[in-house]
Amino acid sequence: MGDNSASEFWLYGYGSLIWKPPPHFDQRIPGYVTGYVRRFWQASEDHRGTPEAPGRVVTLIERSYWEELTDHHDSAPEKVWGVAYRIKPDKVAEVKDYLDIREINGYSIHYTPFQPADGSAPIRTLVYIGTPDNAQFVGPQDPQKLAEHISKSQGPSGLNKDYLLGLDAALEELSPESGDEHIADLARRVRALEHIAK
Ligand code: BEZ
Repeated sequence: MGDNSASEFWLYGYGSLIWKPPPHFDQRIPGYVTGYVRRFWQASEDHRGTPEAPGRVVTLIERSYWEELTDHHDSAPEKVWGVAYRIKPDKVAEVKDYLDIREINGYSIHYTPFQPADGSAPIRTLVYIGTPDNAQFVGPQDPQKLAEHISKSQGPSGLNKDYLLGLDAALEELSPESGDEHIADLARRVRALEHIAK
């Protein structure tokens, strides 16, 4: 681990946090974690959908668990690219409160080593994960049906398709190797459904 990372508060984002940063950060570092697979397998009742019509957002699946499943997208990058944010020390409690409100809805807190893209030492990061035992976990879905579901969903944070297309664009910008075919394929399908040019 990096020298100070155990005493500092670092947050790893692999979804909307990539392009919608938390408040009060003083460093944003692109990089990745390993041992997980990113999937649109979490129902969203509070951000990109409603309790009556939940949308779909990403979660991380433990790679060993995912390997035992039948997934229509049957490959996944070894590295789950995202960003790590360091929160200013005097704002940690405030940001934790903000994140609890923003990120709850089936997600729980985990810690994982984050590898900065510049090759510097790994950082211990907090990450929100919707594990398979949470009520909002959906599991594998047919990609076309999932794209159609995302196309028609919306919630208090906006259109579900804007979340997907925002994530696709954010991943393309992070690094030449940060593409994720699960996300890119869903984005292509949604653009085709909506007649959106890239
Ligand atoms: C993320 O961007 O990493 C994230 C956002 C909300 C819930 C879980 C993860």
